[in-house]
Amino acid sequence: MSDALAGRPLGADIGRLDGPQKVIGAATYAYEHPLTDPAYVHPLLSTVAGGRIARIDAVQARALPGVLAVLTHDPAPELADTDDAELSILQSPDVRFRGQIVGAIVAESIEIAVHAASLVEIEAQASEHDVVLRADHPQLYEPSGDMDTDRGDAEAGLRAAATTIDATYTTPHQHQGAMEPHTTVALWSDGTLRLYESTQSVHGVRKTIGDLFGLRPEQVDVTAPYVGGGFGSKGTVHANTVLAAMAARAVPGRPVKLALTRRQVFTLGSHRTPTIQRVRLGADAGGRLLAITHDVWAHTSRTEEYIDEIAAATRMMYGAPSIATTHRLAPLDVPFPSWMRAPSEAPGMYALECAIDELAVATRIDPIELRIRNDPPSDPDTGKPWSSRNLVRCLREGADRFGWADRDPAPRSRRDGPWLVGTGVAAATYPVFDTPGSEARIAFREDGRYEVRIGAMDVGTGTWTSLAQVAAEALGVGVERVALHIGDTALPYSHVPGGSSGITSWGATLCGAARAFRDEHGESPSPGDAVTAGAPENPADDAYAMHAFGAHFAEVRVDVHTGEVRVSRMLGMFAVGRVVNPRTARSQLIGGMTFGLGMALHEEVVMDPALGAIVTADLAGYHVAANADVQDIEADWVDELDSHVNPMGTKGIGEIGIVGAAAAIANAVFHATAIRVRDLPMTPDKLLAAG
Ligand code: MOS
Repeated sequence: MSDALAGRPLGADIGRLDGPQKVIGAATYAYEHPLTDPAYVHPLLSTVAGGRIARIDAVQARALPGVLAVLTHDPAPELADTDDAELSILQSPDVRFRGQIVGAIVAESIEIAVHAASLVEIEAQASEHDVVLRADHPQLYEPSGDMDTDRGDAEAGLRAAATTIDATYTTPHQHQGAMEPHTTVALWSDGTLRLYESTQSVHGVRKTIGDLFGLRPEQVDVTAPYVGGGFGSKGTVHANTVLAAMAARAVPGRPVKLALTRRQVFTLGSHRTPTIQRVRLGADAGGRLLAITHDVWAHTSRTEEYIDEIAAATRMMYGAPSIATTHRLAPLDVPFPSWMRAPSEAPGMYALECAIDELAVATRIDPIELRIRNDPPSDPDTGKPWSSRNLVRCLREGADRFGWADRDPAPRSRRDGPWLVGTGVAAATYPVFDTPGSEARIAFREDGRYEVRIGAMDVGTGTWTSLAQVAAEALGVGVERVALHIGDTALPYSHVPGGSSGITSWGATLCGAARAFRDEHGESPSPGDAVTAGAPENPADDAYAMHAFGAHFAEVRVDVHTGEVRVSRMLGMFAVGRVVNPRTARSQLIGGMTFGLGMALHEEVVMDPALGAIVTADLAGYHVAANADVQDIEADWVDELDSHVNPMGTKGIGEIGIVGAAAAIANAVFHATAIRVRDLPMTPDKLLAAG
């Protein structure tokens, strides 16, 4: 046993308990579960961005030996619920975006399925389409959902200001790019549906697919012990899962396998909307903010509304007497947008934190000092006290470590051969989400270990390890005495870990279950003793504003001849409550920062407006930051004890690493070059054009 395993479980620096399984290939991902005699599914996709299928002729495909079934809209596979436009596939001849599922082949092998697909004749009647987001789009509308997105009035505050900033920033259509593609293996037998799924939530899939196919929850079993990344794209169900279930129903008793190709993931696996964001700041002579406005334009599918509340963080980040935000959506003929790592805060804080930097330059106040002057004592949005807010500590401690004091504030003041060198800072924040209602079962076994069962997920973040640590701490035993079971609907109900809420929600659940176990069975239980319980609602949830905070520091080098940007150093200092496992936490934080580097410099889904098609639908055209892009990167955190958030004192770390990271890099690029690029990604052409 290592020292860490012998010590207190919460906070122990232990390697992934599932590491050996992954290394020897014994960790089964969705496609890999051993099943007898599987069939294979290959989707047929629309080649127009709008219109309808006029004719679909699958006679030849059906006649091909080895083809088991061909699915099209005629006849439409039956669904019990067709409210969700994304999931109601094959219900009509209508085409809503290019790459939409318009049929599928089920065959003995994937090769036969692909061949058969080439034999299907599809005639489409194209109609006009529009895939371009504009702030003056004629069909812009105010989102109709339950979000209160238009708030405040800050015009008077802006008029009274000594200094104002009025800048518009744009971020592109982005893609989550999880390494494991969206994958479903489905088996329909005796009226039940078994799914092996690449998902962030087994119980979420059970509910959505059950409702869609008219099955009771216990008729849908979902298994997902290992998932190769999701970043939000697997937090909700997408069309691939529906198609696999339809295919399985067409060949009852046989498992069918569907793994989207990389190209298909780009259209069917969801994406982050592009944004246009206008930020206006007004400050007095001392740099104190009088007014903030943040107006956001984003796109949504014409047939299904989806909105990220991108300006939400702007309402709580800095103290100002007047803060106003608006959101408008343009309905377009694009694939369905959805969650992507820090869905609202990543684009929103990019714009706000660049604008704050512009204000620092305009007022000649150091950007760290400017943020400290505007740090609000309570939440400006709700008026509630902070459960804890340690942004200032992150800024100060990060500045010390990064060497901020030596910085010459003048832009374009450092040069090293062909490289212009600059540094930048930006703040980060992310809400503490806690979804009550999960349950866990704890049972004491013959061998002296505690079996802990909860329908939680490990999407690659390290839950197998960190949740075992929380359980061990709650039970007052070492980690080696916990046998954790997660990733299956056979386990007690658990919520989707959206919004970095996994450890918070499941951990609180385990603490509640451990307490119930001890209350019932004491410290010396007998084999077979068990309880199933959840956590009580946290009364502090309503009383406090709960957010994690952080500060990013970046050093960039910009080639004066080519405009190439290299990020030579990145440091993130975070205040994220108690850290359950420093090793997996650091990995989450630098992973998020690396995502932010990609957002700053590389990532952009390009759509051809004429074809309505994604032209960067692979990992060559859509470059995700890789080893060669990342040089010196470090993440650390300040000690933060927050007794309000939950029994562990954790705040969630999956997303905050990306928030603000792109702004720190953009601000460093300005410091290096005196060029303000307000349009991500900051590719060389934009720097050369401006320089
Ligand atoms: Mo996430 S983007 O909280 O699934």
